[in-house]
Amino acid sequence: MVRPCDGGARASLTPSYTQRVNADEYVLDTPLVREFVARVRASIAAAASPEEACEKIRPQFAELLADPDWLPAGYQEGVPESGMGGGTGTWLLFRAGDGSLSLISLVVPPGAQTPIHDHLAWGLVGLYRGTQDEDVYAEREGNLVRVDRRALDAGDFYVLLPPRDDIHRVRTTSAETSVSIHLLTNDIGCVWRHAYDAESGATEPFRSGYVNTSCAGE
Ligand SMILES: [Fe+2]
Repeated sequence: MVRPCDGGARASLTPSYTQRVNADEYVLDTPLVREFVARVRASIAAAASPEEACEKIRPQFAELLADPDWLPAGYQEGVPESGMGGGTGTWLLFRAGDGSLSLISLVVPPGAQTPIHDHLAWGLVGLYRGTQDEDVYAEREGNLVRVDRRALDAGDFYVLLPPRDDIHRVRTTSAETSVSIHLLTNDIGCVWRHAYDAESGATEPFRSGYVNTSCAGE
């Protein structure tokens, strides 16, 4: 079994054995989601590293992004008042009871963008609908430096392997709302992570929350 966020300076921020263990939560409870999660867990269990796990998950993640029918319209809607700002909605689809895995849809209205943020977990992120620009940042000697910009179309996806490529901002470039699917090895809406100021590189605690469920302690 691969530990979430294996290695790296931030590993201590991943869920520990002291975290309360709840039941798995299939908010979108369909055979397809259950089968997807089961296959992902099997891939993680059979992998010797996060890199290997991501390679094993790639084909099934690509299948999910290519399937136009599995995600109901309600999980593809923006939300005026949201933790991400800009009408961006973070919808929980599935999360593991021990906080080791989550599947979400992130909905970003046309012209809106997320704050610059990190994830503190490895996983895969792909575009399901619309187009986005992604700016990738890195911390260099106390400064925040943009190291890449990528244009994403529906079906494109990338791997997050912290600390590499863990800091980014996405902006919807299509006239329609963009919807991206995130499979991450933490409870991404509920963990406290970081938002970054683009100019100074200063960080502040950041938790996106979920539109459709709460976090422990809320
Ligand atoms: Fe992100």
